[in-house]
Amino acid sequence: MMGHINNLLIQMVEKHHGSEGVSRLFILARIPKKHYQLEIIYPEEEFQALYAATKEIYGVEDEAAQKAFADYFMEASPVMFPAIFSVAGNARSLFEKIPTIHKQWPAAASAKQFQEKLLILESDEKRLVFKYDSPNHLCGVLRFVAKGVLDHYHEKGTVTETQCALKGAPWCEVEVRFAAS
Ligand code: HEM
Repeated sequence: MMGHINNLLIQMVEKHHGSEGVSRLFILARIPKKHYQLEIIYPEEEFQALYAATKEIYGVEDEAAQKAFADYFMEASPVMFPAIFSVAGNARSLFEKIPTIHKQWPAAASAKQFQEKLLILESDEKRLVFKYDSPNHLCGVLRFVAKGVLDHYHEKGTVTETQCALKGAPWCEVEVRFAAS
């Protein structure tokens, strides 16, 4: 996982639980306290340990933790990257840019380790289908962020996970249906 996402998780814990919460996070994750570089790819196990520790600190189950992280992601991302959100101009256009954004994110030193986890299988004015295949199982984050993106652009629509790797499917698929405006 690229350091940007690890950092967002840590920033969310800091917002809700202060610097003591961040210290506890690293202790629970059994990782020496550190800062992550945004564009470097770190081992997936390291993200998973931080995520498991986050759930422990918040005292919530997976779905609630994914919702909290998605909410924080949607609070922070338009402030950090206003140009990405304004250039896209609408939800479908932003969704279509995501695989390229993810692919271009890693620094040259990390590019070889990059694994594409989020793809778009279909996209037209009525619906868009994501394919998500990741050892991190953040399909809840995907669903909630997709809904957050619709809300960001004041668009109506629905987000449904049509198959899930956690329920035995080979990968997750998430369908966004755009309501006619
Ligand atoms: C400003 C826009 C965005 C930026 C800069 C961004 C950046 C990133 C980066 C750097 C990663 C780490 C990728 C990796 O290590 O493999 C990531 C992960 C992820 N992003 Fe985005 N992203 C953006 C928008 C979105 C949107 C709109 C969605 C959903 C519709 C999304 C869904 C995800 C998911 C589900 C992951 C987790 C992948 C995993 O399982 O490891 N992202 N994002």
